Amino acid sequence: MARESREVVFVDGVRTPFGKAGSLYAETRADDLVVNCIRELMRRHPQLPAERIDEVAIAATTQIGDQGLTIGRTAALLAGLPRSVPGYSIDRMCAGAMTAVTSVASGIAFGAYDVAIAGGVEHMGRHPMGEAVDPNPRIVAEKLVDPSALVMGSTAENLHDRFPAITRDRADAFAVLSQQRVAAAYRHGVIQESLVTVATRSAELGWGLATADEPPRPGTTKEALASLKTPFRPHGRVTPGNAAGLNDGATAALVAAEDTAAELGLPAAMRLVSFAFAGVDPEVMGVGPIPATERALRLAGLSVDDLGAFEINEAFAVQVLAFLDHFGIDDSDGRVNPYGGAIALGHPLASSGVRLMIHLARTFREHPEVRYGLTTMCIGLGMGGSVIWENPHHRDAGSPVPSALPVQPKGGAQ
Ligand SMILES: CC(C)(COP(=O)(O)OP(=O)(O)OC[C@H]1O[C@@H](n2cnc3c(N)ncnc32)[C@H](O)[C@@H]1OP(=O)(O)O)[C@@H](O)C(=O)NCCC(=O)NCCS
Repeated sequence: MARESREVVFVDGVRTPFGKAGSLYAETRADDLVVNCIRELMRRHPQLPAERIDEVAIAATTQIGDQGLTIGRTAALLAGLPRSVPGYSIDRMCAGAMTAVTSVASGIAFGAYDVAIAGGVEHMGRHPMGEAVDPNPRIVAEKLVDPSALVMGSTAENLHDRFPAITRDRADAFAVLSQQRVAAAYRHGVIQESLVTVATRSAELGWGLATADEPPRPGTTKEALASLKTPFRPHGRVTPGNAAGLNDGATAALVAAEDTAAELGLPAAMRLVSFAFAGVDPEVMGVGPIPATERALRLAGLSVDDLGAFEINEAFAVQVLAFLDHFGIDDSDGRVNPYGGAIALGHPLASSGVRLMIHLARTFREHPEVRYGLTTMCIGLGMGGSVIWENPHHRDAGSPVPSALPVQPKGGAQ
């Protein structure tokens, strides 16, 4: 049977405000965070009949308790999608949501789906990193990896060792920039447009509404960061200020075949160009985005100079700076994380991939002169993931689908 690959578009992405682990969402279930995102996507796109959704792929790193029970399926049922809509779970640690997107996108390109929901959740308050893991003793006994490879902050210290030009001073300066950019993005309403308000409950405080991210520290100064301790190594360089924190949150995105989006009148915020995952030494997992990006560029027939916008997950400042040094990009280049990143916003592991895509989609909308952009992230146990996107608003991109992103007023179909 003759088969043609189909173009895939990122229609829209939403997320819950991110909380500090076990704070804002202490008494909110992880699966309910996902449900909020799915329902918000449906509310924003009433022209999409729920029965047209062919798959729901939701990522979580710790797939137990309220993040277990095949959360893609349970969240779909809980969100009120028809029972005919299937779902599944994904795990690639920090790149869970990114892998959810590339997985459903592959299914769309193959012709198995027309429209899918992809996202991720991590409630690090309810499920601390490493909960219930049982690493095979061979991993350490046979020195398959150094024990430091299992502690992400230690891998970041290892990266500082490998690249001495990346000083603590540079890492702290980058962290300040992230905080300043998030503060500016909030001032301009950039962040708010992708947030779904979440009702929170606290036995002590009663009901509340989460409407903004909890982790940002807009007043952050380099002087304050310089005084912070280095929890992963005495006299190290990684601090709570230049690392992403421990957070709770969820994301979800609508991904569709470009022809189906046109048929249903769904907007196209980004067109998928290529994606790649790569493995590196687990002890320095932070370099993962470098070979992943090189491979994604090769697959796309592009060079890094063709990329006009970069969304690099800020698990640790050192790992972003290693990427920038490799590609000869300045620490404060305005094309990189223009609305800030995980150091300020937080990084609920498996949810963050879609958060990067949301930010890139906004950059594309603001900058029609940008044709290609990148979302990339490092991944525990030594991996990187990269997705290259094309801007449908670019004048040469020839988009056959409407490019405006309609935001429906609250109180619509729910
Ligand atoms: C680094 C880490 C251990 C810090 O955890 P923590 O101690 O709970 O962090 P806190 O938010 O309490 O911050 C610690 C201190 O730094 C201070 N601090 C943090 N950010 C700051 C900032 N931007 N400016 C000034 N002070 C700051 C806090 O006020 C706090 O001070 P205190 O001890 O006097 O109260 C934790 O965030 C972590 O493990 N991050 C990495 C997560 C990870 O590995 N993700 C996966 C990536 S692959």
